[in-house]
Amino acid sequence: MEMSVFSVSIALVFFSFLPLFLRWITDRWYLRRVKTESDGPKIPPGSLGFPIIGELLDFLWCFKFLKSPDDFIAKRKARYGDTGIYKTHLFGCPTIITCSPQLNKQILGSMTEEGCLSTGWPSNQLLGNSSVAVIDGLSHKKVRRHLMEAFNSPRGLKAFVSTAQPIFNSAFEDWASKGRIVAYDETKTATFSNICDMLVSFKSKTQLERMESLYRGLMAGIRAMTINVPGTAFHHALKCRKKLTGIILDEIRERKAKGIQKQDFMQILLESSDENGEKMTETEAVENIVSLILGGYESTANVMTWALYYLAKYPAVLEKLKDETRLIQKRKSGDEYLTIEDIKAMEYTPKVADELIRLSNVSPFIFRRVVKDDVVLNGYKFPKDWKVIVWIRAIHVDSAYYEDPLTFNPDRWSDYKPKVGTYTVFGHGMRYCPGNNFARFQVMMFLYHACLKYRWELINPDAGMKFQPHPKPADGAEMYFSRAT
Ligand code: HEM
Repeated sequence: MEMSVFSVSIALVFFSFLPLFLRWITDRWYLRRVKTESDGPKIPPGSLGFPIIGELLDFLWCFKFLKSPDDFIAKRKARYGDTGIYKTHLFGCPTIITCSPQLNKQILGSMTEEGCLSTGWPSNQLLGNSSVAVIDGLSHKKVRRHLMEAFNSPRGLKAFVSTAQPIFNSAFEDWASKGRIVAYDETKTATFSNICDMLVSFKSKTQLERMESLYRGLMAGIRAMTINVPGTAFHHALKCRKKLTGIILDEIRERKAKGIQKQDFMQILLESSDENGEKMTETEAVENIVSLILGGYESTANVMTWALYYLAKYPAVLEKLKDETRLIQKRKSGDEYLTIEDIKAMEYTPKVADELIRLSNVSPFIFRRVVKDDVVLNGYKFPKDWKVIVWIRAIHVDSAYYEDPLTFNPDRWSDYKPKVGTYTVFGHGMRYCPGNNFARFQVMMFLYHACLKYRWELINPDAGMKFQPHPKPADGAEMYFSRAT
């Protein structure tokens, strides 16, 4: 009897100290090569968690099970103080999280520009070595200049405004004929058709369905572990990438061989030249078109799902939006589409779009990787090869910057200019999202046409939310959708 009490006590002591011991081992393992001096820069506060998995369980606990993603940062603030910077170990890497406007701005701005940090995700194996999203330095500048020229050209803007509206209208008609839809699925298909038409003039339903399925495969691999073994999501994604680049390359070559000119983004991109008169190579054009479709497809569709969701829940906002819509329509004849000037002249709709993009937090984090030795910020050391996660979501839902932050309130944007670093939905600095206007204008056109002729009602208004891999209503925003008559 005495023996068993003794054994139980030993086991209790062992299991209560085991987590501490394991955490201590992980810290020793990763910090053994990081030199710090007593009066020099320090490693940020926090824990590297357990061996191999780090703090992934806590992350999943907050995001998947509690469905309260903001608890992850709140816990660290409570435990280690409101430093806005913490060490952790997530997604297989020792990592530094930053979550203050000033630190986020410095990471995305000067530190990225000075080449201390490189992109941390996704992998270049999946996007290609000349994709704007993975390259650095001069090559990044060069490719970006081509992209920005195409995005900002009056020809590009005109093409995109005239492409998007018929696609949205025909999607709405299709939804109304179905009567009951899952908005998350439908907005993805509509956005995919839109982005493919606008970038490469692809219109065939069969081709779009095939490509969308390849993109899903690519996206799944981007979110998975980089293990290239048959059967893994990463392996499948590599195959999808190969097929997608093949499709775009065939299109470029066909245009060149037959002298075909089309009114789309790819045409503008192929014709654009940098300050030395150099054009993009075929590989650069292909890999960047694939990356643009990837960057612009699910992100914008997510915001549109949230648009239908929030407008169904906030009828007063919907009414105000309809007022503006009707006013604009009165100035136009019949079913005439919006022009870029109409969109730029809107007053309330952009506030709704900005509020939707803030609240939907489709890119909750931005990833970087430390690529230089002795990187120091605010007295904290950033060890080489560690990842950095700029936790932009934390700022967008912080009551210190947004009153009643989880309420959908487009009026908060009236005469309000966010302080630096507090509205970084599209990032900041040299990697600022090149598709930001494209995304905002798309959302505004979507809102205009949805409000003009349709009505919708959530089937499960209290369905809750999912935060993994992106925030979305748990039922995908299932709704009744019909013509307003
Ligand atoms: C609401 C929709 C969107 C959101 C919230 C969003 C968000 C972001 C963010 C936060 C970044 C910065 C990443 C970083 O600093 O590493 C980014 C970069 C990027 N986005 Fe977007 N984006 C959206 C729509 C689009 C669209 C429509 C396109 C293309 C048509 C696009 C293409 C890209 C590309 C290519 C990059 C990489 C830029 C670079 O590394 O230089 N995005 N986006």
